[in-house]
Amino acid sequence: MIRVPEPTLMTDIKQCQSFTNSNRDYVRDLFIDLLTSRYQLQGTILNLGCGPCDFDLALCEINSAINIISVDGSPAMIDIAQGKIKDYPITLVCDFFNNLTYRADITISSLTLHHQLEPTSFWESVKANTKNGGYVCVMDMIRPTSYEQIDNIVNKLAGSEDEIFKTDFKNSLAASFTVNEIKQQLCDTNLNLTVEVVGELGIIALVHGQL
Ligand SMILES: C[S@@+](CC[C@H](N)C(=O)[O-])C[C@H]1O[C@@H](n2cnc3c(N)ncnc32)[C@H](O)[C@@H]1O
Repeated sequence: MIRVPEPTLMTDIKQCQSFTNSNRDYVRDLFIDLLTSRYQLQGTILNLGCGPCDFDLALCEINSAINIISVDGSPAMIDIAQGKIKDYPITLVCDFFNNLTYRADITISSLTLHHQLEPTSFWESVKANTKNGGYVCVMDMIRPTSYEQIDNIVNKLAGSEDEIFKTDFKNSLAASFTVNEIKQQLCDTNLNLTVEVVGELGIIALVHGQL
């Protein structure tokens, strides 16, 4: 199926609340396991598209010596995250990725690549904001081959979630990239990273490596 892009930012308050209240533990735990089994958590971690900061809180629980810069261009999402980060070493930044000038030890991102109208600009931001020798770990969904497959995935994984989340989930799957498209994006931006299909469902890609 052809890709159907969705808006870059999640700006609607109800949409952000629905996303925050949904059960995404599987994706979070998978990401944290894969990241920590491959790379040592240290220094400054940059999270592109932090959403409600669930991943950042989990990482701080594992290693309280890290500090995280959590970026999201949506004021509504940043407001929600603000209420969750308490005393954690997390700095929230409300901005677009292409405005950032950091030098992170590790750059992470989850469920955000598919929001990009210009995915190469996303990868340029990853490259520009990660220090030489730093690490990258980006996870996102893989676009299914049909709308029927999308419906099956959403019913199976999010059958008990609210309608706003289910609609968002469907739109996100339709906006996701294929593994070959992600590999082409990396080629276009001269990024020598590994693309792996992870998890037992075959719908999640992990892009990772050292710069
Ligand atoms: C689907 S959410 C994922 C949140 C979080 N990473 C998670 O997995 O729970 C993607 C977030 O990235 C933000 N976002 C997407 N593209 C962006 C961009 N180019 N600049 C800034 N924020 C962006 C959206 O506003 C949204 O809150």
